[in-house]
Amino acid sequence: MELCFGKYKLRPFRRGDETSLAENINHKKIERYTLRIPCPYTPANARQWVNFNLKLVRSKERPGQLNFAVDLDGRVIGGLGLFNINGHSAELGYWLGVNYWGKGIVTAAVKQLTGYALKELGLVRVYAKVFSANKASARVLEKAGYKYEGRLRKDCMKREKPVDSLLFAKTR
Ligand SMILES: CC(C)(COP(=O)(O)OP(=O)(O)OC[C@H]1O[C@@H](n2cnc3c(N)ncnc32)[C@H](O)[C@@H]1OP(=O)(O)O)[C@@H](O)C(=O)NCCC(=O)NCCS
Repeated sequence: MELCFGKYKLRPFRRGDETSLAENINHKKIERYTLRIPCPYTPANARQWVNFNLKLVRSKERPGQLNFAVDLDGRVIGGLGLFNINGHSAELGYWLGVNYWGKGIVTAAVKQLTGYALKELGLVRVYAKVFSANKASARVLEKAGYKYEGRLRKDCMKREKPVDSLLFAKTR
């Protein structure tokens, strides 16, 4: 599956992505608002991630998650994923390399992937949870047509402290 938007595209991870992935994801400003991205992000982390996704794509079972690279000229500059996929809904997550922030890239990518999830995958709800301090991410979701549904108090642990999340969703 490939979804193009301007000079960027969303496509599955592939062998060879490890270097650009590690270069672009390895940043405190990305780690601080996400739950599953370590910092430092090592070449071994990148290899594991690519291997994990190659295995997922080859698996005959219905996947619980689908992950895509944001590709610019063959390099990985970001990532979007649908996880906790069940019969009708999925959770959305994303990150972008700091050099590319503020150009509308993730908003466009979120619109593409949400459209794909609601139309092609037949889901009726895609939701995202954003740390309450993460203004840029909340804005991305608003611009992509997600509705704010409420504050989840002490929803997750970050750096051993409970943090509130803001819940956004788009439905069909
Ligand atoms: C959140 C993130 C993906 C946004 O990517 P992006 O491509 O720069 O986003 P866009 O350019 O599409 O939109 C960003 C919007 O947030 C706004 N914004 C950025 N920083 C902001 C701030 N501190 N306060 C308020 N708004 C802010 C921008 O002005 C823009 O809105 P506008 O178009 O109305 O001006 C990127 O910052 C990132 O990777 N952050 C770290 C990881 C992360 O937070 N992931 C999401 C976890 S829920």
